[in-house]
Amino acid sequence: NYRNANLKTIQDINQHETDSAIIRLGTGELSPTLLPTKKIEKSLQSTSFDAHSLGYSEPKGDKRLRQSISVYLETKGINASPGSLMIVSGGLQALQLISVGLLQKGSMVLHESPSYLNSVHPFQSAGMHLVGLSKQGRESIPTQIKRINGRKKASLFYTVPTFNNPTNTTWTKEERLNLLSTCKKEQIPIIEDDVYSDLWFEKRPPLPIKSIDTDGLVLHIGSMSKTLSPGLRIGWIAGPITVIERLADIKMQMDYGSSALSQHLVADWLESGQYTKHLEWLRHQLIVRRDFTLSLLNQYFKGLAEWQIPQGGFYIWVKLCKPIVNQNLFKQAIKENLLLNPGYIYEPNNNTHLRLSYSYASEEQLAYGIQTLSKIIRRLI
Ligand SMILES: Cc1ncc(COP(=O)(O)O)c(C=O)c1O
Repeated sequence: NYRNANLKTIQDINQHETDSAIIRLGTGELSPTLLPTKKIEKSLQSTSFDAHSLGYSEPKGDKRLRQSISVYLETKGINASPGSLMIVSGGLQALQLISVGLLQKGSMVLHESPSYLNSVHPFQSAGMHLVGLSKQGRESIPTQIKRINGRKKASLFYTVPTFNNPTNTTWTKEERLNLLSTCKKEQIPIIEDDVYSDLWFEKRPPLPIKSIDTDGLVLHIGSMSKTLSPGLRIGWIAGPITVIERLADIKMQMDYGSSALSQHLVADWLESGQYTKHLEWLRHQLIVRRDFTLSLLNQYFKGLAEWQIPQGGFYIWVKLCKPIVNQNLFKQAIKENLLLNPGYIYEPNNNTHLRLSYSYASEEQLAYGIQTLSKIIRRLI
């Protein structure tokens, strides 16, 4: 299967991210200062390995890690035995495995739009047909699902229901229940991409959709990338055992397992409680960054744009008062050493939104970057 190239703007973003002079105002990654690098170094020095630790792991991944993820998922109301869990090299690999392992070419994938899927193409590259459903539309998402599925059978519904990328919206408990009951009636499996849900600020979000799924309809994806370290490349999928076994079989064809060292480390962090402790610290740091960024927006973007106050996660989905979010704005920003994540990489015809992130740039960079961006925008308006 021949893969298409990334969008030009995505290629530009990937390239400019390596430039140390650039200010990354939209990056969906923790700042190096928020990664527990020294602590990880220490735990690697003090951990112990048995003779099997560094060999290939089982198809579903290291048993001890799956056991500790099973215990961790209980805290989210999810009942997943180690046998119904598999380890993957990040949430993105979970999507790739689902796409090549469970779907036929040409099948229709429904998803919430704007969407992370449009920025990475795990389904599009495998020849799936994507249909974006808006939460802002006249019809609710369940109504849209019923209408579309009545015409052509949908293969699955993909959602990031908690601290969405890029919009940072969170589905209410009722919305989760309605979605699940509709998808059950329509027999459409749900992919719940839950990589941000540990990053809540003032209050916990509703429990994952997987926690109310009694029919094995939901494949639940988690990851250590947004909380502990993206470079470890550790994520997981929870789902019905037969589906997990199929996906684990495909993963063996692809890479014969995720890094044993990373799996060992994450198991240590979950078992020892270090992960939970780190999360408490991280949430606090992100709240400080969110508040700082909101104060900058209030200072420089009043009258230029609208936004919501994030309740968790990394992003502020900023809606500009004029439709000027295009290649030109992106290039003007690059000239001033600012790297933006424009709305159109998440939703093809979007020319009004920017995804800002308070997780990556330093306070100093945010202050300079947001002020400079407001000047560019005023000039273009
Ligand atoms: C919604 C969502 N899912 C999955 C991922 C993939 O993360 P990883 O493959 O690093 O776990 C990301 C990262 O940006 C994301 O925003």
